[in-house]
Amino acid sequence: MKQTAKPLALVTGAASGIGKATTERLLRDGARVIALDRSAEALAKLAATQKPRTPLWTTGFDLTNIAGIPNTINQLVKQHGPITWLVNNAGLWFTVPIAETTDEQWNTTVTVNLTAPFALIRALIPVMRAAGGGRIVNVASRNAFRSTNNVAAYDATKAGLVGLTRTAAGELTKYGIRVNAICPGVINTPPLREWVEDKQFYTAYTKQIPMGRFGEPEEIAAVIAFLLSDDAEFITAQTIIADGGQIACQDNERFTEILDLGPRRKSKRAKSK
Ligand code: NAI
Repeated sequence: MKQTAKPLALVTGAASGIGKATTERLLRDGARVIALDRSAEALAKLAATQKPRTPLWTTGFDLTNIAGIPNTINQLVKQHGPITWLVNNAGLWFTVPIAETTDEQWNTTVTVNLTAPFALIRALIPVMRAAGGGRIVNVASRNAFRSTNNVAAYDATKAGLVGLTRTAAGELTKYGIRVNAICPGVINTPPLREWVEDKQFYTAYTKQIPMGRFGEPEEIAAVIAFLLSDDAEFITAQTIIADGGQIACQDNERFTEILDLGPRRKSKRAKSK
């Protein structure tokens, strides 16, 4: 069903990267936004740089506190009204091989990337139902479909989030709640700045992306905004991969260009022979 002109959106991990771009995009599109992040300092910076026409509220909350989620949602709804849009964006990863992954690293990744989205959806079902419907977008990853070594917990949670998306969509359609996921490829956000700044690595890496570049957070925000909008009214339980064609297309000719990258890469290859 169509929603009010100024829906109230909750965006998690809103202080940085894709969450920040999504917050800015939704505000521009006329939504009211609650920006949630564990970093109150970064949220304050975000709020200071916005001049939104619609209200932006911020809330400092650490999503590892699963037990605190129902109460936080109740408080937010009491303060600002029914939340009918949810963007489960907050996420993190530890780069470490399985053999060295600690229980704490595994559990933190599962809690933030998978359990928190589940708990937020669960807490918001009665709110969205009472409001006559809702829209949810889960930010998964292309790693849900093509894993990367040394981020096993991340890969598992993102595949899990795609599964959660489908089941939630199946259960909630009858309440007018649509649930979809977006799977970004590599996006130019703070955790990946090092990859962008290492010119040699960036040049080599982007050879496996048909579009030849990393994505920008605004490009992911645009897809999220679409999935939340009336334009996506017949779309639920879907996953959109926005990765510049990375996992669907392989161009072997482009791969061979990596060999011409210069002395550092060549000498490494020579050593490994
Ligand atoms: P980012 O690190 O720039 O932003 C993530 C935000 O989540 C940060 O502001 C952080 O404070 C917040 N956050 C982390 N743990 C939290 C917790 N326990 N409680 C509350 N907030 C918490 O990261 P980026 O790149 O914008 O990623 C956003 C989402 O997009 C993540 O789910 C990530 O897995 C996903 N993604 C990112 C890709 C990329 O290449 N940047 C690729 C595919 C997926």
